[in-house]
Amino acid sequence: MKKILYFCFVCLLLGACTSSKELTSPDGHLTLFFDCDADNGTIRYAVARDSELVIDPSELGIIAREAVLTDRFRVTGIDHHSEDATWETVWGEERLIRDCHNAMTVHLLHQSGINMDIEFRLFNDGFAFRYIFPEQETKTLTVTDETSAYRFTQNAEAWSIPWRTEYYEGLWQKRPINGHMANTLDTLCSPITIEFADGSYGFVHEAALSDYPAQNLYVREGALRTYLTPWLQEPIKNEELKIKNEVKAYVETPFSTPWRMVILTKTLPELVASRIMLNLNEPCKIEDTSWIRPMKFMGIWWGMHIKTMTWEQGPIHGATTANMVRYLHFAKEHGIDAVLAEGWNLGWEDWKHFNFTTPYPDWDMDYLSRLADSLGVQIVGHNETGGNAADYEKDLDAIYSYHAGHGIHAIKTGYVAPIIRTTDGLQWNKGQSGVRHYRKVIETAAKYHIMIDNHEPVMPTGLQRTYPNLLTQEGVRGQEWNAWSTDGGSPCEHVTVLPFTRIMAGPVDYTPGVFHFENPVIPTTRVHSTLMNQLGLFVCFYSPLQMACDLPEHYMEHPDAFRFIEAVPCDWERSLLLDGKIGDFCVFARQERGSDNWYVGGITDEQAREIDIPLSFLNDQMVNDPYGEADRSTGGRLEMVNYKAVLYLDAEDANWQTRPYAYDIEERDVTASDTLHVRMAPGGGFAMEFKIADNNK
Ligand code: NOJ
Repeated sequence: MKKILYFCFVCLLLGACTSSKELTSPDGHLTLFFDCDADNGTIRYAVARDSELVIDPSELGIIAREAVLTDRFRVTGIDHHSEDATWETVWGEERLIRDCHNAMTVHLLHQSGINMDIEFRLFNDGFAFRYIFPEQETKTLTVTDETSAYRFTQNAEAWSIPWRTEYYEGLWQKRPINGHMANTLDTLCSPITIEFADGSYGFVHEAALSDYPAQNLYVREGALRTYLTPWLQEPIKNEELKIKNEVKAYVETPFSTPWRMVILTKTLPELVASRIMLNLNEPCKIEDTSWIRPMKFMGIWWGMHIKTMTWEQGPIHGATTANMVRYLHFAKEHGIDAVLAEGWNLGWEDWKHFNFTTPYPDWDMDYLSRLADSLGVQIVGHNETGGNAADYEKDLDAIYSYHAGHGIHAIKTGYVAPIIRTTDGLQWNKGQSGVRHYRKVIETAAKYHIMIDNHEPVMPTGLQRTYPNLLTQEGVRGQEWNAWSTDGGSPCEHVTVLPFTRIMAGPVDYTPGVFHFENPVIPTTRVHSTLMNQLGLFVCFYSPLQMACDLPEHYMEHPDAFRFIEAVPCDWERSLLLDGKIGDFCVFARQERGSDNWYVGGITDEQAREIDIPLSFLNDQMVNDPYGEADRSTGGRLEMVNYKAVLYLDAEDANWQTRPYAYDIEERDVTASDTLHVRMAPGGGFAMEFKIADNNK
């Protein structure tokens, strides 16, 4: 049926309409059709894989106060270009990323006189488009809506969180996005991850969001559609949103919107391996990146969440000089690069008047920064704004110069407030004003050689390619919920969803590594995992600033297991999903950047699982290469190599509820031709380290 429609559509394009154009992916499997209706100038696109349509003709366009830019267009020209280049990341899941695509820019003239281009890019594993307003007489546009739509031809279910989920800290759910069930859907946050009826996968998101409202998604009249986060007009009388006619973006020409992006792959490993989002972002704008470096860190942090310490001063104040001295020495002894301290500065009593350059009296910044320097351990600063972005922005230079002056080159920022106060008043953090604020923070921080870990962020869109000092972000229901959430903590399934949803959008500061599950202060809440699951997270959850979140004394309850946290890197040469099913389990293998060492991590939901792990990845093969063209030869270098493997495994009777601490650590000699058989306990997981054995060196 869809094949027939496909041919009808193509005939329609080629016959009736002179301004139709198509674009083919480098491997020839995906085709994108653009159509500008000859009669009424309506613009649409469709996408086919081989001879089947995967996206039916779908709407394109922007609605602005100045003009409704969805129809009454005329095509004035079309340019094509192709790209096939490999670029090197400053840090990442991969050292080298190949950007191979075909592109087409359609130049359109609207009846109103406004010029609008649409640039399409077609990759082997998906497509993207963006609207471009070139330099022209119309200098400003007030955008009230965007009509970009995705009419998927197949039945599909999507993993999503509702768009009003505070700080994106929700449990992801799988629900139909087409058919009659879909009408009950709320508006969703972008991204969503799609499982199609034929077993293939999709991921809908945006790329390069830097001066525009974040996109949200909703289903109406058979299509997934874009809903841009609105500007809020003060005073906010009620929170009901006026869907029509609210301002979404103020645009000054020339201007390009962020990319609308859809990954389409047949398998889950290919979905996870897609680098379309990074390829769509601008290359690095920071000339000297030598000061940017991935780090593992600990912190005066978990104690506040389990309520054995406080942020504010008092008898159990966490960020005291004495505590920090202890943490810094512990980090030094265990090879942890850095230590975060929250609650070091004035303002925690009311969360309204934070001062980012004045420590509490029991925090000796000069002494601690000298000590950190002498130990070779970094301090990670903490700037919680309580949502007062405007005041923070006003003082950015002074704040960052104070931190840099004390040798602090990484700062965790925070915006705890459902609606933040920007220089434009009260706004959604993911509205245009919030997005601008976050970018200003990153750009200013770069001037002072400061790396950013952004909590309560806007959803990542790959901006870290352009500004690699944006190392990681929260935007997730992270570990802290397991300390205090009134629902008792996140279900085991949660962590098996995140690698395929939130983490597809970018690095995540989830803060893995809890080693002590009893919480005397809030006994009804706990981490739903075994200790080995916590270790598996260090490989399954990607973050170049990776926190080991528990207290030093808790790590010393299991020093042999802590050894994995000491050893595991957070910057990778290559990353592969070896096996997985969204919401059930996943197994990742990652090669340490610039080394032959490999690390494998696995996590499961509440179901125990037995899996086989062929170690062929040790043979240096690019099993996930989306182009199928990578050089697979190893020159025989690694084929006969013996590896020393250290395996951190759930014990036979391990169980997150009853025996979370039951584990075995085994050492084995292995080669790439071996297959390991592993059992994960309910809520369990595993971690593995592979290093070339001495007898090969
Ligand atoms: C919420 C953040 O997610 C958490 O990590 C931090 O400790 C608190 N805000 C305080 O800033």
